[in-house]
Amino acid sequence: YLIGIDVGTSSAKTLVMDERGNIVFTIAPEYDFATPRPGWAECNPEDWWTAILAALKAVFEQTDVRAEDIAGIGLTGQMHGLVLLDAAGQVLRPCIMWNDQRTAQQCAAITGKVGARRVLELTGNPVLSGFTAPKVVWVRENEPEIFAQAAKILLPKDYIRYRLSGEYFTDVSDASGMALLNVAKRDWSNEMLEACGIPRSWMAEVTESPIASTRVNAAAAALTGLKEGTPIIAGGGDQAAGAVGCGIIQEGIVSATFGTSGVVFAHSDEYRVEPEGRLHAFCHAVPGKWHLMGVMLSAAGSFQWYRNALGGEEIAAGRAIGEDPYTLLTRAAETAPAGSEGLLFLPYLSGERTPHPDPNARGVFFGLSLRHAKPHLTRSVLEGITFGMRDSLELMRGLGIAPTEVIASGGGAKSPFWRQMMADIFGASITTNNASEGAALGAAILGGVGAGVFDSVESACASTLQETSRVEPESAQKLYAALYERYTALYPALKGEFR
Ligand code: XUL
Repeated sequence: YLIGIDVGTSSAKTLVMDERGNIVFTIAPEYDFATPRPGWAECNPEDWWTAILAALKAVFEQTDVRAEDIAGIGLTGQMHGLVLLDAAGQVLRPCIMWNDQRTAQQCAAITGKVGARRVLELTGNPVLSGFTAPKVVWVRENEPEIFAQAAKILLPKDYIRYRLSGEYFTDVSDASGMALLNVAKRDWSNEMLEACGIPRSWMAEVTESPIASTRVNAAAAALTGLKEGTPIIAGGGDQAAGAVGCGIIQEGIVSATFGTSGVVFAHSDEYRVEPEGRLHAFCHAVPGKWHLMGVMLSAAGSFQWYRNALGGEEIAAGRAIGEDPYTLLTRAAETAPAGSEGLLFLPYLSGERTPHPDPNARGVFFGLSLRHAKPHLTRSVLEGITFGMRDSLELMRGLGIAPTEVIASGGGAKSPFWRQMMADIFGASITTNNASEGAALGAAILGGVGAGVFDSVESACASTLQETSRVEPESAQKLYAALYERYTALYPALKGEFR
């Protein structure tokens, strides 16, 4: 058996997979994070550990998996979080998480010092406020007494590795989100470390993702019931591991996840950087490969807003007949023609990240006329979200990635109507597959490669994943191509009005 653990934002999803790829057990003990001030997000690493102890206890109590049958453990987790330790390995302050926005000033200072071009050259990305390095600088400036005791920096999943093994290791995909890794060379950047005032000795050793970097030590074996010496595989950041879990491991295959936020993720055989840094350029969890990623802040989240604000009728009707209000809304949207008779929706309800890094951007209905009824509004919301995802896809196409197939997932991918719309708007085949376990599954697959159960990430994915649906672009593709041009003209026209 293999174990995959995802140290997530709100739970520690733990799954057990057999060596043929069948998932035999999953559990996700939950925890909270705190927002001590607006825009801050912190959590206690001890809570992750407590949750993981509970999850492993459940594995041994509720299944017949024995410790000696576990070939390896793969780790993944929320990216970018800062866990600061002293020389004795004690946590010095709560983890400053990926969704914490306190470091605008520190990002500007680091960028000013190194130069925006040079930062992009070294790390493949701009210094963003969620990334780890500016958080370290923030602690130095605001909590000097804590900074004075610091001796190690770990990312969330690597803190769990430390608790399991007593060792400091990370992997290239997760390390890419720190603003400290030379993403082309897949090793720490001395220039970035110096500019941020971080000693290299604070950094964990960095390896490729499917490497058995450490082993469960005696102390952790006694606490968890795991066997001492069980290999712990380096693993990956949750986006890269999630991509492994749904098969985004070859150039030309792209995933589009329509969750609350939207993520477009492309495998890249070569190191490519979007010239303005609008796509994240990170190392992939596939050895020697990279990935590009666009993040839209309100994807299915826009549809959720719409349901809450304007779907009262469907919520009530759905309750009466036992139907999902989204299904009722979508069914009505199908009665409006493709293109919603000229009505366009901009999905920037909570600002945007890709392709317009603008916290002040807001949602817009544009082109309302007397002809428009509720089905048009609903349809234009779905179209606007899908155009927003196409923006990331276009940036990737601009870098020479030619997607032949887009694997859709998340709540938005459940609707066949929306999947056809995706095919028409993206101009690519849309498929879905049986991967439903996300990053934890990717971690277990990486674990299996590291433990020698699978030959490679590619063969592991081939033996665990199956296609469940496929649609091709149809005639609406032409109309949507014209409409997309109008959609992309709107943000630049309105930009100055968002404040
Ligand atoms: C990736 C990102 C999130 C976090 C939390 O860049 O910010 O996916 O890893 O899950």
